[in-house]
Amino acid sequence: MNTDEKLNFEGRVAIVTGGARGMGREHCLNLARGAAKIIVNDIDEGAAREAVGVIRAAGGEAEAVIKDISTWEGASDLIEGTLDAFGRVDIIVSNAAVINMCPMSEMTPENFDRVMRVNAQGPYYLVLAAWPHLIRQNYGRIVLVSSGAATVGQPTLTHYAASKGAVLGMVRSIALEGEPYDIRVNGLIPVAATEMTRQVHSPEKAAEQEEMLPARLVSPVMAWLAHEDCKTTGELWQAGAGRVGREFIASTRGYFNRDLTIEKVRDNEAEIQDQIGYAVPLDSSEMYNWIVKNSIERESDNR
Ligand SMILES: NC(=O)c1ccc[n+]([C@@H]2O[C@H](COP(=O)([O-])OP(=O)(O)OC[C@H]3O[C@@H](n4cnc5c(N)ncnc54)[C@H](O)[C@@H]3O)[C@@H](O)[C@H]2O)c1
Repeated sequence: MNTDEKLNFEGRVAIVTGGARGMGREHCLNLARGAAKIIVNDIDEGAAREAVGVIRAAGGEAEAVIKDISTWEGASDLIEGTLDAFGRVDIIVSNAAVINMCPMSEMTPENFDRVMRVNAQGPYYLVLAAWPHLIRQNYGRIVLVSSGAATVGQPTLTHYAASKGAVLGMVRSIALEGEPYDIRVNGLIPVAATEMTRQVHSPEKAAEQEEMLPARLVSPVMAWLAHEDCKTTGELWQAGAGRVGREFIASTRGYFNRDLTIEKVRDNEAEIQDQIGYAVPLDSSEMYNWIVKNSIERESDNR
């Protein structure tokens, strides 16, 4: 579909967590250009105020709310601060996160807990604090930033991958709860050269990525998922380098046998893993129906 109609966010209030730097700042600038009122949330007060200054200098409206979203107090204060500043909240871009490279052999429970608190607890608390307001106004657009580390894995980032995997589960389930209220929830799987990638790549690799992967090529995807015309929900979209794609979790047709044994599982690995004819169930009842369909069909095939 092609149309000349320009999209804007007039009258909408958007929170961007971790909005002071990196992709978060680009998200703030993008939404502000579309006339959304922006809450720049971060724990880095100087950088957040600077981002607000840039938005205002360009004629936009923005306020900084300096809160740590990894605590319930911080997340709920952020929602209250948004309501105080602009009277409503329509868009939540959960972008703040932390990372550190650490192989399993060197991992500590403290490191795991800290990453989980910011990257998994943070988005959950934020949506939880905003939920009554979104339900009351019968509207919301939520973009939860996940990571390819969760969907395809990455060595030395198991803790980070686990936290971002929690986000995937949230996307799927909150989307189902929100749909009757026009609350749409999607996951964004970005890639861009930022402070974060400078922490996990060699200086040479990071330099190579600067030009290829600017954060400005991720923000339009976030913006569409945050727009009221976007009815998509519960999906995971990839964005980076100007490419936009969808990642999904699928179920194979599988192998069926009512006299299943460990040996039968061993001997039928290829059929279990065969990707031909897979399904992408949208919720647990579709998944259940898919499993039952494949069992019943196979049973009658076997007769
Ligand atoms: N950069 C990539 O290629 C990449 C790839 C996959 C996923 N991601 C995800 O994209 C998002 C943005 O990443 P980025 O590369 O721009 O990161 P970044 O490190 O450049 O920026 C993250 C921002 O979050 C803020 N922040 C950290 N903890 C916070 C807290 N408790 N409360 C509020 N703010 C906090 C930081 O101060 C910082 O400004 C993150 O969720 C990240 O996990 C990034």
